[in-house]
Amino acid sequence: MFIENVSIKNLSNKFSTPFYCYSSKTIIEKFKKFKKPFQNSNVIICYAVKANPNIAILKILSRLGSGAEVVSQGELIRSLKAGINSKKIIFSGVGKSPNEIEYAIKKNILQINIESEEELKLIEKIAKKLKKKIQIGIRVNPNIDAKTHKKITTGRENDKFGLDINTAEKILTNFRSNLYIDLIGISVHIGSQITSIVPFKKAFFKIKNFVNKINKNKRIIKYLDLGGGIGINYNNNKTINFNDYVKIIKNISNNLQCKLILEPGRFLIADSGILVTKVLYIKKSKKINFAIIDAGMNDLLRPALYDAYHEINNINKNNGKKNYYTIVGPVCESADIFSKKILMNKIKTNDFLFIKNVGAYGASMSSSYNSRPIIMELIINKNKYSIIRKTDTVINQISREKIPSWAKKIK
Ligand SMILES: Cc1ncc(COP(=O)(O)O)c(C=O)c1O
Repeated sequence: MFIENVSIKNLSNKFSTPFYCYSSKTIIEKFKKFKKPFQNSNVIICYAVKANPNIAILKILSRLGSGAEVVSQGELIRSLKAGINSKKIIFSGVGKSPNEIEYAIKKNILQINIESEEELKLIEKIAKKLKKKIQIGIRVNPNIDAKTHKKITTGRENDKFGLDINTAEKILTNFRSNLYIDLIGISVHIGSQITSIVPFKKAFFKIKNFVNKINKNKRIIKYLDLGGGIGINYNNNKTINFNDYVKIIKNISNNLQCKLILEPGRFLIADSGILVTKVLYIKKSKKINFAIIDAGMNDLLRPALYDAYHEINNINKNNGKKNYYTIVGPVCESADIFSKKILMNKIKTNDFLFIKNVGAYGASMSSSYNSRPIIMELIINKNKYSIIRKTDTVINQISREKIPSWAKKIK
């Protein structure tokens, strides 16, 4: 059990668990795989930073020429710090604050994707104050169900994301010749972990037709942003064949007078990472064998939030009969379950387990709930490892808190 040339067992003996560990080779290969079919074409790849915002990972992707799709000032700061060209940065999200908008305009990013008319009016006001013109994309909600988990589907008419096509058209007319707003983009993103090509096809062609209609007499829309969303294989599930995705993208770019923006997140990073954890206790109830591990839902939220499946393996190869285990964390929530009744070789206290495919939406969604410090992240490059995020400490957490003087006098 190695990541590149480094033994996971050696790492788990060396560092205290739990920790994330990534393979740089996998990230690089995945990015190159994604980029290759679009070389020499009008496609800009903007990595969705939310998937994993670690500065080391952003640096790797920046060196490979990636742009970034960000949803907060924090992600924008990280992307710029990692050296990502501001002219390859897209700012999305339904609720950008005035400060975030001002920061993005000052940093001359490629495009802000708006999701409401009010947001656009606020951007106009801020751009006027800054005496700058900003490129804007309208996120369109195509009313297409991506048939993914209900918490990560974003393109149905009642989802909070985007604007319907008619409203988008109205905005395009009203803001056509504006001094501070350059309305040159349309974007769409119908969800994440999409495992069928059909909803992509439907959404992309709907949006392409809209863009062609708008561009009929004059090239108004210069960027068509098709978002991210490609599902990966977590559980031997059928997912999208990348070549089919490429075919559709190429089809879309035919007879289209604009550049395409693609925003992959999960596809680039999910299978590069594992979460290494130690078994604290084995507990048998009447019907269930619990393996209680030292990683919790605060470290990896996906199973608790989305009922997501992640394969779990034992680093120690124990003899003995296979058994069904329910693998749970130490957090005081019944939802803190990583896997229910999975058949595994005998698990013993102090065994090291690793949870697979956690590179995306793993560390990035972690929290310090239950005052559990945010955990370490390592990255492997050939036979070397580097710590790319240190484990936080509770003392560090407390240092940002303050006891008011009156509280010290309470009797
Ligand atoms: C606007 C936008 N673009 C791109 C992504 C990345 O999606 P994924 O990681 O599924 O590729 C997301 C995530 O949901 C998103 O909201």
